[in-house]
Amino acid sequence: MLDFENVTKRFGTTTAVDGVTLSIPQGQMVGVIGRSGAGKSTLLRMINRLNDSSSGKILFGGREITALKGSDLRRWRNECAMVFQQFNLVGRLQVVTNVMSGRLFQHGFASSMLGLFSARERAFAIRALDRLGMAHAALQQTDTLSGGQQQRVAIARALVQEPKIMLADEPIASLDPLNAKVVMDALRSINQEDGLTVICNLHTLDTARAYCDRIIGMQDGRVVFDGPARALTDSVAREIYGAEAESAFSEAVTSTALNGHGPGQPKMPEPQEQAEEQLAAARAAL
Ligand SMILES: Nc1ncnc2c1ncn2[C@@H]1O[C@H](COP(=O)(O)OP(=O)(O)OP(=O)(O)O)[C@@H](O)[C@H]1O
Ligand SMILES: [Mg+2]
Repeated sequence: MLDFENVTKRFGTTTAVDGVTLSIPQGQMVGVIGRSGAGKSTLLRMINRLNDSSSGKILFGGREITALKGSDLRRWRNECAMVFQQFNLVGRLQVVTNVMSGRLFQHGFASSMLGLFSARERAFAIRALDRLGMAHAALQQTDTLSGGQQQRVAIARALVQEPKIMLADEPIASLDPLNAKVVMDALRSINQEDGLTVICNLHTLDTARAYCDRIIGMQDGRVVFDGPARALTDSVAREIYGAEAESAFSEAVTSTALNGHGPGQPKMPEPQEQAEEQLAAARAAL
């Protein structure tokens, strides 16, 4: 259980998050929506302490994470993995190296600097890539991949952290609908298969409705809606989005909704659909 108790975050005179109280049970898939500047990113960033709250408490399993310091804070950051709109991968490195960087906490910094990842960790990274349908690209230079493929690599990196929570800040905002759907399907399968809590900031409404058990609507730092997708009527959503309603309702830009003119319904490739010899070659080369 993740609990927010009257959490506020101020940046100077701006109140980015204003007195938020929430309880998120383990295993929920939560979508956070709201117009630009509503406080969505700040809310997420306070969970992994990229931003510190100004007042209030955040607790995970009863433990106050807003009070963690030093090695406890580093351990917590490792336990809540985060994926970003711009992937945050190192483009010139091999895909598998980017994924293994998610193991830095478990691996130890000194040996990581020397590039001494163990065979076990490489295998772990390949398995995570395999789950995302990306094992065939393990040895490829990361910046040669498409945006959707890079986001799947970023999710694989998050997975090898063996996190307790997965945070995603607009993970599909830079992707076309086809890739957006593959990435959202990946997050949902992680949520369902691993029972991992996923908290995801999303811009388009249809994606939040299609994928999330629960939608949290923010406006001016406050939670103004909290409920299942079916309870979020169009008129409530329009109020949450205000002037941005048209783009939020639009299925054209970053939405996962594919119209009839697209290249067909994409899906997460099954491991067995991967070219086995490519996978074997990648493993052999490691
Ligand atoms: N580091 C910062 N310094 C100063 N102000 C900030 C900082 N981070 C966020 N803010 C302000 O806090 C408010 C909430 O920002 P936040 O990034 O959380 O919104 P958001 O809902 O994620 O918006 P977007 O949809 O554009 O990503 C905004 O007014 C923003 O300008
Ligand atoms: Mg944001």
